[in-house]
Amino acid sequence: MTDNSIILRAQDITKSYASEKNADPLVVLDGVSLEIQHSQITSIVGSSGSGKSTLLHILGGLDSPDSGNVFWGEKNLAKMHTDQLAEFRNKNIGFVFQFHHLLPEFTALENVCMPALIAGTDMEEANDRAVRLLQRFGVENRKSHRPTQLSGGEQQRVSMARAVMNNPALILADEPTGNLDERNTEIILDLLFELRDEYQVSVLLITHEEDIAKRSDTILEMKKGKLQAL
Ligand SMILES: Nc1ncnc2c1ncn2[C@@H]1O[C@H](COP(=O)(O)OP(=O)(O)O)[C@@H](O)[C@H]1O
Ligand SMILES: [Mg+2]
Repeated sequence: MTDNSIILRAQDITKSYASEKNADPLVVLDGVSLEIQHSQITSIVGSSGSGKSTLLHILGGLDSPDSGNVFWGEKNLAKMHTDQLAEFRNKNIGFVFQFHHLLPEFTALENVCMPALIAGTDMEEANDRAVRLLQRFGVENRKSHRPTQLSGGEQQRVSMARAVMNNPALILADEPTGNLDERNTEIILDLLFELRDEYQVSVLLITHEEDIAKRSDTILEMKKGKLQAL
């Protein structure tokens, strides 16, 4: 692999949270380094509270580390202003969380269109692409429904469509199937692998599904503030 194939590089990330008065701070990330390659699926496993979500938020620029840097190519996230960072995220990263985070007052179709409209894509083009994605994910017949009218599996499929709307280089998925039954878990995880094959998108997946972790290109475990190969 050449360096060109690395889309994200995190170097020596640390993060602590203050704990009770006079107690030592809670060290969540204690020098985490990570590289994400183009078109690769990386799974992160680890017990609850081990710092997986904290790391994912830092990699995606939703939170900042106490020390260490996150580079996307030559770009250091720490050097970006809030609005630049928001624009960067919108163009380059698709987030999928355990809970769908769809906007309740909008339909499935409108939710999927949103990232493209924010990026300045015209309405008709956004609409066409969103409909194609909803078709692709098997929820086109639910496009006029609001999130509360959808099942958990449908909500996550709509969330995935929204996440890939702007053709991101990376999907950051934080236990996207944590709330789903076995069948829907399989559908969502298969979709992630298909997206990688179709669009060469990279995926960083936090998961408890051991089988899926084993199917990925790299499996890492968060333990005692460190990320280690499994
Ligand atoms: N904003 C916060 N303030 C204080 N403690 C936090 C905060 N966010 C997370 N933590 C703590 O940091 C640890 C790691 O949390 P998290 O990254 O969510 O773990 P995981 O995703 O692996 O379950 C947990 O002990 C959690 O309680
Ligand atoms: Mg978590």
